[in-house]
Amino acid sequence: MNTADLFINIAGSLVLLFIALGCYVYYKDKKQVRHTLLRNFPLLAHGRWLMESVGHFFRYYMVADDRQEYPFNRADRTTVYKMAKNNNMTEAFGSTQKPDELSFSFIHSLYPFNDEKGEDYAPSVLVYGATTENPYYAKSRINISAMSHGALSNNAVLALGKGAKMGGFLQNTGEGGLSQSHIDGGADLIYQIGTAKYGCANPDTSLNTDKLEVLAQNPQIKMFEIKMSQGAKPGKGGILPAVKVTEDIAKARDIPVGQASISPNGHVEVHDDATMIELIYKVKKHSKKPTGIKLCLGSEEQFESLIQTLAQKRFELIESGQLVDAELYTPDYIVVDSSDGGTGAAPAAHMDAMGMHIRTSMPFVKATLIKYNLRKRIHLIVSGKLMTPVWAAWAFANGADAINIARGFLFSLGCIQARKCNKNTCPTGITTHNPRYTKGLVPEEKSVRVYSYHKNLEHELTNIAHSCGVRTYDLLTEKHIRKNELISVKCVN
Ligand SMILES: Cc1cc2nc3c(=O)[nH]c(=O)nc-3n(C[C@H](O)[C@H](O)[C@H](O)COP(=O)(O)O)c2cc1C
Repeated sequence: MNTADLFINIAGSLVLLFIALGCYVYYKDKKQVRHTLLRNFPLLAHGRWLMESVGHFFRYYMVADDRQEYPFNRADRTTVYKMAKNNNMTEAFGSTQKPDELSFSFIHSLYPFNDEKGEDYAPSVLVYGATTENPYYAKSRINISAMSHGALSNNAVLALGKGAKMGGFLQNTGEGGLSQSHIDGGADLIYQIGTAKYGCANPDTSLNTDKLEVLAQNPQIKMFEIKMSQGAKPGKGGILPAVKVTEDIAKARDIPVGQASISPNGHVEVHDDATMIELIYKVKKHSKKPTGIKLCLGSEEQFESLIQTLAQKRFELIESGQLVDAELYTPDYIVVDSSDGGTGAAPAAHMDAMGMHIRTSMPFVKATLIKYNLRKRIHLIVSGKLMTPVWAAWAFANGADAINIARGFLFSLGCIQARKCNKNTCPTGITTHNPRYTKGLVPEEKSVRVYSYHKNLEHELTNIAHSCGVRTYDLLTEKHIRKNELISVKCVN
């Protein structure tokens, strides 16, 4: 048989094989009872599922314009990638932002702060827990928001930690406890105590103060944070799918390997304001370190009631000369997380429709702290899509003492917003424990990106501050922000 005959024979066999396969699938589709579409349109209907599974990629890379996608559009992602890669931060020709897309603008000064002086433009040091035995002197106002080892891979935690150590900023452990990767990264840590209290829990998930005291002796852990709620899933506990509970993670959390790690939706010992401040007291007393709380606002009345209870308790204790206790009941900071915050896994309804956005909650929290004379005592930290210079500066101008960033740092690690954090198939090795993907993430390389992103974000913020006439970005205030009137695009054109 010559080559042409061989080729014709192979091609013929393949065609027959495809026809046979097609007939088989057609027959199976017709007989099955689960899918109406397949019964009514055998074989053809598979095209719909195919397009549904790959359509996301077509839209992502070919169809969506630069400012269209959610949760983060390409323009914002590119801004972070550029900062992480130390690329040129300028753009040409004109802004691609529609005139009425941004609800505010910065108010520049006719007499900008002269940035030729080459002074130190670092913000002032922020002291956490000045009245504790171990205050923390933070050089950075921008820190890595809580993301657990579990939601994140070992390599991701390690790269974030090394980057944070290089840049002198904080890494928050998230609610999954302390892992070897946190320790190897070497950054200053905030240990988050979630509702399951991984690493410091009694069997009923209440706080085990002996375990807490042991943790607090670790010099790398600078502060503790009690998580009341998180913007992406307020009123819901942590969810780590079974497939992500590897031996490492099970060890850090003290749970069985391969079983989903679901934490309760609230702290077992907390059911009202009084028990909440008791928990703060216990953590501060036994850790002797600064302690904050993290929450996403739901009801304004409930938040005010918590702060009122705290203020009342402080007043009573101070009146009776128990100054130390008054301080132990007081959180050293409050993180206000936005309803559009990120997560490794959460019910869609919670992500879409539960909780308050920081644009509403942050001014309320600030006003409440002022009302109860606690604004100077409790630092206000904000998180929720603040990864670009514009939004980070917005937060500082509106009164944030510091900001936390989660997904921005993930972009700096190379995240492409594939949104597979809950599936263990993250293609960039960040939110998976499958070595097939994690081996691509090289911590030594990516830690430099984490460091550069932070450094360049600070630089961009300083530029904004200088244009507004102030030396450092922590000096931005509401005076530097103007609410934009809605400008009709038609009018402008
Ligand atoms: C993968 C992932 C895991 C997270 N894990 C936690 C967690 O363990 N505890 C927590 O309080 N918040 C967690 N968060 C929420 C972030 O800390 C942050 O509050 C939220 O994403 C808003 O910040 P961002 O808009 O900068 O991402 C997680 C977010 C992501 C993306």
